[in-house]
Order: sequence, then C-alpha cells, then structure tokens
Amino acid sequence: MVRVRVPAKVNLALSVGPLGADGFHELATVFQAVSLYDEVGLTQRGDSDGLRIAVTGTEAAGVPLDAANLAWRAVANIAEAAGVPTNVDLAIVKGIPVAGGMAGGSADAAAAFLAAKTLWDVDVDLAAMAAELGSDVPFALMGGMAVGSGRGDQLVPAMARGHYEWVFAVATEGLSTPSVYGACDRLRVDQNVPAPAIAADLMLALRQGDPGAVGKHLSNDLQPAAISLAPHLAEVLALGEDHGALGSLVSGSGPTCAFLVAGEEQALEVGVALSSSGLCGAVRRAAGPVGGARVVAHG
Ligand code: C5P
Repeated sequence: MVRVRVPAKVNLALSVGPLGADGFHELATVFQAVSLYDEVGLTQRGDSDGLRIAVTGTEAAGVPLDAANLAWRAVANIAEAAGVPTNVDLAIVKGIPVAGGMAGGSADAAAAFLAAKTLWDVDVDLAAMAAELGSDVPFALMGGMAVGSGRGDQLVPAMARGHYEWVFAVATEGLSTPSVYGACDRLRVDQNVPAPAIAADLMLALRQGDPGAVGKHLSNDLQPAAISLAPHLAEVLALGEDHGALGSLVSGSGPTCAFLVAGEEQALEVGVALSSSGLCGAVRRAAGPVGGARVVAHG
C-alpha cells in the first residue's frame, strides 16, 4: 500500500496567448501550491479484477469513477510502462474543490503517478508522462511556486519568497476548462492577442515576498471568460475586495474565487462576508506555498 498527499494550486497570474493549431493556448503563468489537499491511496490486490476506484471526502460528488478520471489513467499508464497488471484499489479522498480551477483532477493524477511508481518501484520519467496527461499535472508533482510556459507544463521554480494566506470561495457548480478557454476566444475574437507574458511588477513583488504588493498585481486572462459563463462571480470578487482582501481573482479557469488576505483577522472578515452572502458554496482557508505530491505512507 502507498498513500500520497497532493496540494491544490492557484495561479497568481495567468496570461493566455492566441489559440494554437494544437487546440491549446500558449500560457505564461505563476503557480502557487496551497494547503488544500487530496490523498490518493494505491493498494495491491491478489485477484485479477483490474483497477477499482473509490472516491470519498468533502468534495467527492461529481468525480468520475472510470477512465475519465485522470488518476485512473495515470495508474494505467504506469502499469503499461512497467509491464505489470493493474490489480489495485485506487482510493481518492477529495479535499480540493472539483471542477473549481484549482487543478484537483490533475493533483489526483500527479499523486497516482507517484503512488504507482513507488508501489511498483519502476524507473519512469514522471514529468514527461505527467505533461501528456494534463497541463497542470507537472506542477502538482513539483509544488512550491513556479513559472509555467507552453501549455503551463514547462516549469521553472519562481524567484519568490514569503508566506501567503488565502480565502477561497468555492462555487456550488463547476466550470469546464475547455468551455472557459472557448469563451475566452469568443470574447477576444476581434482582438490581436499578444504573446503571453507575466507582469514585471508581480515578479518584483514576489521577489520581495510582499503579499500587499502581490495582491495588487494578481491577474487572470480567463477571468472575464469565467464571469461571462457565471456572472455572479463578479459579485463574489467585489465582496471580498469590499471586506479588505489584499487582492482577488478567479482561480485558473474558475469558478473558485481566491482572496489574498493579510492574516487571521482579514481572513475572518472576508470569510464571514462570503459565507453569509449566499453567493457561493463552501468558504475555505489555505496558505501557500506548500510542497508538491509526497508519499505519506508506504507499507
Ligand atoms: O491539459 P488539460 O487537460 O488541462 O486541458 C484541458 C483543456 O483546456 C484543453 O483541451 C484545452 O481546451 C484547454 N487548454 C488550452 N490551453 C492550455 C491548457 C488547456 O486551451 N494551455
């Protein structure tokens, strides 16, 4: 048996270039791993019934229980590479919002890759396999803070310091990533979309480790698209700002809204305002950066 813990992510900046011929957009992004976690367990069985999957936890509803689940595919891919049968139980405990723009599905895939590699003791290039499965999977393996380019899968550690406190407003219904990218293309159809780039002001604020300055320079090109599909997100973001958040943005392709806060008091102020507004589902607190996928039990 192997158990792996893996964090969610938030993008502090997400700059989206034009739609490429491969159906993907070139990105420039800054990832931060935050302390909302999924746990993925992999247990070898003696029978030959193949892969079985179970999903539990506060965020389990709506998670696919077949090969549509990226974690399932991760285990199947490693088994194929290693030439071993997939007679394992895959148990996912969800704490990361589902279809929320926090890369929960990619996190499970990253954790499943690491669990399968550890269980079967195989020598495979996880980073390459991870990028093939999904653009956010490599970052879930790496964790910390990183600048992403390409599809978001080409990573270099960010020159950044500091500790960041977050409040997350989780929506009651998710948004599909391809539909948000599609809405982004429609909104920009008449524009000459420039190559993606990260604002120098954000990188300076991160080098200084100054949450106040980072809060002023958060940005997400997918935010107008997510708001066009779920207009109440504009009100959610405004509410957090009105209650003193250092900065706010839609996380990734949304619809989770992320609020950077100065500390305990501000987190409570923003959290209470959001939970009593009726505009969102759960309100969660987290901090970052935290490490990427890690084996927490093996035996
Ligand atoms: O790689 P991932 O499976 O997360 O991508 C899901 C979808 O999001 C892609 O099929 C594509 O429509 C969109 N996407 C994109 N550009 C990226 C990453 C994702 O258009 N860089």
